[in-house]
Amino acid sequence: MSFFQVSHLTKTFGGVHAVEDLNFEVKKNSITGLIGPNGAGKTTAFNLITHFLPRNKGNTIFDKKNISHVPAYKLVRNGIARTFQQIRIFPNLTLRENLLLSVSHSYDSWWRSLWKINETEANKRVEQMLKEVNLWKYADAPAKNLSYGQSKLLEILRCMATDAELILLDEPAAGVNPTMLRTVEKLILDLKAQGKTLLVIEHNMPFLMGISDEIIVMENGRFLMQDKPEVVQQDSRVLEAYLGR
Ligand SMILES: Nc1ncnc2c1ncn2[C@@H]1O[C@H](COP(=O)(O)OP(=O)(O)OP(=O)(O)O)[C@@H](O)[C@H]1O
Ligand SMILES: [Mg+2]
Repeated sequence: MSFFQVSHLTKTFGGVHAVEDLNFEVKKNSITGLIGPNGAGKTTAFNLITHFLPRNKGNTIFDKKNISHVPAYKLVRNGIARTFQQIRIFPNLTLRENLLLSVSHSYDSWWRSLWKINETEANKRVEQMLKEVNLWKYADAPAKNLSYGQSKLLEILRCMATDAELILLDEPAAGVNPTMLRTVEKLILDLKAQGKTLLVIEHNMPFLMGISDEIIVMENGRFLMQDKPEVVQQDSRVLEAYLGR
């Protein structure tokens, strides 16, 4: 059985079939890209998987566990973390506080986190993460002072801080300058090297094709194909989906 499996996932908004009987599997310790034209249903799929939106139907199985009914706030404790297409960090908290919150959230209860996490350890971890992306100098500044690209980095770090096994990234490269893009790429590849599994939505094809083991293509809410990047890039159905018939 695969590490993460989505079956028959479906969501309609009024008459719009945003996600329609979506099925796919993600292998453990892989980077899987999720692509499709604007409005294909990629973000909605993430929202259904993570229960930010209720689904009409469908199952999600993660590490042999049925997580179809695990609410959003419990998912991180089950080993799943995500970022958002529209950045969601705590603007008035410092970078350090944003990350420390995620460290404590990864524990299965708040009181347990209090005695389980060694504060020095957690702070050391935060320092190491911020240094890696060159944001250590802003550790005690409010997150709202960050640039757009820096905020995206902080969001990825926040996923890393939870120590989740499955990480869902919604357009980590969008609006990020070329230098920062290399940092994003390094973070993602480091996560894979640590044994994590990543599902990444992205419109930046050279970037995504370069890091992904497999690519899933969605069109009009549906699964179109899943294969290695070099195969997907050559597939006429994918070209048609993007360019029209
Ligand atoms: N909360 C909502 N209410 C109504 N319709 C929605 C809602 N969220 C998404 N949709 C619709 O569902 C469809 C899929 O949208 P979604 O945001 O999942 O696409 P996407 O593949 O992430 O696109 P993009 O690449 O532009 O981010 C679109 O037609 C969109 O307008
Ligand atoms: Mg989207």
